[in-house]
Amino acid sequence: MQLTDSEIATLIAEAQQAMAQAHAPYSKFTVGCAILMDDGTIHRGANVENASFGATICAERSAISSALSQGHRGLKAVCVTNASETKITPCGICRQVIYEFNRDVPVICTNQRGDHMVLTISELLPHAFTLD
Ligand code: THU
Repeated sequence: MQLTDSEIATLIAEAQQAMAQAHAPYSKFTVGCAILMDDGTIHRGANVENASFGATICAERSAISSALSQGHRGLKAVCVTNASETKITPCGICRQVIYEFNRDVPVICTNQRGDHMVLTISELLPHAFTLD
């Protein structure tokens, strides 16, 4: 699925706004995610850390849980950003979760300036685990 420049720009802006809501007092590493669904809606997520570090939820899973919980199905695009110069890519757990909802979904990986690269989730997670 090819995203338009306009869709990419919108998702980067939404992810940057999501990042502003991050709760990252331990790592200080804020992450924002915006996802586009087949119905055209965009949903945001931020990382939410916890004193029990393993209870932390990443921005990507936060956005996906929010969209699914509100009844939106069909993951069309994912955008993830952070406050550094590095174009962030989703962690391993998030790759597995994203894959569950669309094996070909494009993932826009961006840095604080909005520089980005687009990779499909299958490129990010080759030979993914499935129950097929
Ligand atoms: N984090 C995300 O939100 N998404 C990722 O894909 C990588 C890591 C968060 C988790 C934690 O709050 C912080 O970044 C540092 O690992």
